[in-house]
Amino acid sequence: MPSLSRRLVLGGSLATPLAALAMPAIAENGPLKIGVMLPFSGTYAALGEAIASGFDMHLRELGGKMGGRAIELVRVDDESDPAKAPSNVNGLLGRDKVEALVGTVHSGVVMALVQASREQELPLIIPNAGNVAATRELCAPSVFRSSFSNWQPAYGMGRALAAKGVKKAAWVTWNYAAGIESGDGFRDGLQSGGGELTKVLTLPFPETNFQPLLAQLPGLGVEAVGAFFAGGGAIQFVKDYAAAGLRDKLPLYGSGFLTEGVLKPQGAAAEGLQTALHYGDGLDNPKNVSFRAAYKALTNREADVYAVQGYDAAQMMAIGLAGAKGNAGAVKDFAAAVLAAKIDSPRGAFTLSPSHNPVQTIYLREARKGENRVIGVAAEALADPGTGCKMT
Ligand code: BEZ
Repeated sequence: MPSLSRRLVLGGSLATPLAALAMPAIAENGPLKIGVMLPFSGTYAALGEAIASGFDMHLRELGGKMGGRAIELVRVDDESDPAKAPSNVNGLLGRDKVEALVGTVHSGVVMALVQASREQELPLIIPNAGNVAATRELCAPSVFRSSFSNWQPAYGMGRALAAKGVKKAAWVTWNYAAGIESGDGFRDGLQSGGGELTKVLTLPFPETNFQPLLAQLPGLGVEAVGAFFAGGGAIQFVKDYAAAGLRDKLPLYGSGFLTEGVLKPQGAAAEGLQTALHYGDGLDNPKNVSFRAAYKALTNREADVYAVQGYDAAQMMAIGLAGAKGNAGAVKDFAAAVLAAKIDSPRGAFTLSPSHNPVQTIYLREARKGENRVIGVAAEALADPGTGCKMT
């Protein structure tokens, strides 16, 4: 398997090359250790908690076993900090000797996990981070996503806006892969219906001084504004947008992370916002109804897309390990089982594309009284283009 340049993968220095690590230990009779690397602090902490809870919930449903083996989870808080990602991954592989990986939320941090999975040939399920490279040019037999590519939800939003007749729009976001690639999706969606993305405004992740960007919006000559923010940053952005008096002048839209899991703290500032995502409130399928009730009973929290992605990551891991008969190193068998499966997700059943990304419906939602109610379909059975993916 080709090794990746440090620069391409991490965009910075790498203290210990992942390739230099010993292969993870395989003790097929003992518990199978899965490294779960997520943010449990910082702006994405709530997202990490929801993913971990969803994963744990399905593991409990399976009686704590996958592929016939007892599962031991080793959790690491990655703090959504790309600079700490290599040492966090090295710790899971070298010190903890995990045999499979689940993680993470942040599109920059996930690249260290992708590199480890490719080099060590151990299964990785990405339960959120949408970095398109993971299922495009860096796709690999061992790398799977239970979530979305950054392009997908924003493409749906752009397409829905073009269908409303919007001709010119701007995009506001953090300057890192998730924000920029979501902007690309928004642009492509707009273009598919004759609209145009005329301006992209950014600030560094995870900064929340939005005022200089908000001040520029009225002068841009656009009819609508789209945004990618999530977690704590999304709470602040939506409140600041409303406080700046922009809601009536320039309608705000976004990929659904803008309002997902954060409607309560956003309060009235979010009421009526339309966003696009592969999940929403009020999806009336039996799996979603039972999932939401069980999640509430277990955590005392309402389920959101992050909980769904964590739950589905556990479903995919269990399916793959069953196919590999509990040997996580049997990547071919693992992959064949996951690719053949229809994942019975609360979002609606989905399959994986040849580059291992969900093919899924992107819903149009509207924030109403604390819920992201599904009001339509923005894009049916949408696959990421998977450009540049060559499965070896
Ligand atoms: C990302 O970094 O890929 C991401 C983070 C939060 C929500 C959605 C995407």
